[in-house]
Amino acid sequence: MTLKPSSLFSALPDQVSVYEVSPRDGLQNEAVTVPVTAKVRLIEALVASGIRRLEVTSFVSPKWVPQLADAEQLCRILPRVEGVSYSALVPNRTGLDRALTAEVPEVAVFLSVSETHNRKNVNRSTEQSLAGFEEVVGPAVAAGLRVRGYLSTLWGCPYEGAIDPRRGVEITRRLLKMGCYQVSLGDTIGVGTPRQTQEIVSMFLSEFAAPSLALHLHDTRGTALANMLVGLELGVRTFDASVGGLGGCPYAPGAAGNLATEDLVYTLHGMGIGTGIDPEKLLEAGRVAAAVVGRELPGKVHKAGFRSLRQ
Ligand code: HMG
Ligand code: MG
Repeated sequence: MTLKPSSLFSALPDQVSVYEVSPRDGLQNEAVTVPVTAKVRLIEALVASGIRRLEVTSFVSPKWVPQLADAEQLCRILPRVEGVSYSALVPNRTGLDRALTAEVPEVAVFLSVSETHNRKNVNRSTEQSLAGFEEVVGPAVAAGLRVRGYLSTLWGCPYEGAIDPRRGVEITRRLLKMGCYQVSLGDTIGVGTPRQTQEIVSMFLSEFAAPSLALHLHDTRGTALANMLVGLELGVRTFDASVGGLGGCPYAPGAAGNLATEDLVYTLHGMGIGTGIDPEKLLEAGRVAAAVVGRELPGKVHKAGFRSLRQ
């Protein structure tokens, strides 16, 4: 057999954008409610590592997600650092009003491709969610905020199983038309595999420009990094990640944390792709995250470190 030279990784970027979600996606799923000062400690450590985009909290119902009930208090004491952009989830107009009062510069709306998951998560159908976002996205943009969108369960739903990604394309079209600058495609329960990711991401890229898409990959089955590489190869340049692999969705049973930020950064740096993040300081942020939640975190590089024995 003759080996052909491969075109794989022939058009890699110099830089990708890491969108850190541990203070929101991570802490919303912890059994313990972390004190607000400890949340600030985590955010300070993440910012010190060079991370510039962070989702810090949610303006959702405190009855549904008590872990993030201190959103206003947190926003008041966030470290203000030049070039750092904070974002928060908002499910509805009430959430946007709270975010506006808290002066958050960016918000994210979220819904699921799966009807059942959407009902479990926000107590309404996907069409009701989209109708509600008409009162959120336009007014937020008019008020000078950047608005992101999340599309959950695109790779599979814990209640419905397989999902038709074409419905996700239709929802994304509507979110972008409303004014979202980017839609983050979610493998909420971490079931995706590389060929499936190739099919989904190619389908989305055939209609939407790469900068309007991000990948939000939970690492429940250890496939997030492989799926990230497929997205990278196809042209995606923004990846959501969570330090130490902290996280999950409280309304998606069995979902583990996001792709660990350290695993993402280790892999990208090893391929010569910059992130603006300092590896040692990122490891330190992971240690802060573990201390803040009082448990071991699953991230591989979080445990093993960046250096090999030979260095
Ligand atoms: P509901 O009970 O149907 O809401 O909840 P409602 O509109 O009937 O209101 C009920 C009460 O909640 C009222 O108060 C409202 O004022 C209040 P009451 O009269 O009973 O005192 N309320 C609010 N309070 C504070 N902030 C708000 C708000 N809205 C209403 N924004 C609701 C509907 C959407 C509020 C609820 O279902 C909810 O908060 N769900 C959030 C669930 C959530 O945060 N899930 C996790 C995030 S999504 C995720 O993790 C996936 C992601 O990471 C991507 C991926 O992994 O795929 C993004
Ligand atoms: Mg998530």
